[in-house]
Amino acid sequence: MEKRRRIDIEKNRPKRVLALIASPRTLGNCEIFTKEISRRIPQPHTLKLIRLTSLSIGPCRACYGCVMGKACPVEDDMAFLLGEIANADAVIVASPVYYLGANAIIKNILDRGFLFFDVLERTYGKPAVLLDFFGIPDRIGMAPQMLETLAMFLGLSVKASLSIEAALPGESLMNKKNIALARRVGKIIFSARRLRKKKGCPFCGCEIVRVTPDGFICTVCHGSFTVNAGGSFVRKKDGGIIGPPEHMLLHREWLKGMKKRFQEKKKEILQIIIPYKDEGEWVEPDR
Ligand SMILES: Cc1cc2nc3c(=O)[nH]c(=O)nc-3n(C[C@H](O)[C@H](O)[C@H](O)COP(=O)(O)O)c2cc1C
Repeated sequence: MEKRRRIDIEKNRPKRVLALIASPRTLGNCEIFTKEISRRIPQPHTLKLIRLTSLSIGPCRACYGCVMGKACPVEDDMAFLLGEIANADAVIVASPVYYLGANAIIKNILDRGFLFFDVLERTYGKPAVLLDFFGIPDRIGMAPQMLETLAMFLGLSVKASLSIEAALPGESLMNKKNIALARRVGKIIFSARRLRKKKGCPFCGCEIVRVTPDGFICTVCHGSFTVNAGGSFVRKKDGGIIGPPEHMLLHREWLKGMKKRFQEKKKEILQIIIPYKDEGEWVEPDR
């Protein structure tokens, strides 16, 4: 009875929408467009925002401690961030395009991705909307691909991945088309629908591919496909990176195996690397 009541309360509570704003600009496009989407979500919900550029996110030390079940030695805001993502019902990630990529904070977070394994069971399947804002047409570079990579390694279910032209703050909401887009995204975020890209990878939608003699390999999910005479994509093999948590956690097992392999080969490795130890001079700024 008590359990049933708790399930009912959980089902009836307002949904929690978390916005990860990767722009330092107050009331910039990332922030206002996200808030516009939130206004258009028909389900009762709360909106929490995190300005990612204000967080302290340190570089991964490549110690593999977290993979082996130890605490991460970097004391920063990663645990806070992952906790908030895990507690949300939907996530909106919004980044400006900076030098043909997403804001660098996205890559900083991605580089700590071994920590995602610990929350994957709770983040998997969560609806997500990815937004990037660019000032110059055709200069979005790899920004959408970076956001899609983040979503993939968190196991998020991408409802839409949109690139929106807007140079000045506020410009993203200066035309009716974009306001209609925000309305559409708000409507579908908690539905079974998604906005599909017409020309993206047939497995995950990413638009950046590696070209090989046998066809294309998606740079996010690593699925492979070709193009037929009619110009349609023909799926060859999914990349297998995307999958349910138990599948993605196999990567952690592989990493654990690499640590074991390192221990076994340590003597041989040291013989190779030690002779390079004193070569060159490291230069550091005066503090
Ligand atoms: C450092 C910097 C680099 C930028 N690089 C690009 C770029 O490579 N391509 C582009 O189209 N716009 C670029 N822009 C423009 C921003 O993407 C655009 O102004 C966006 O609307 C900013 O979003 P915000 O208002 O949420 O901060 C750059 C802006 C800055 C400040």
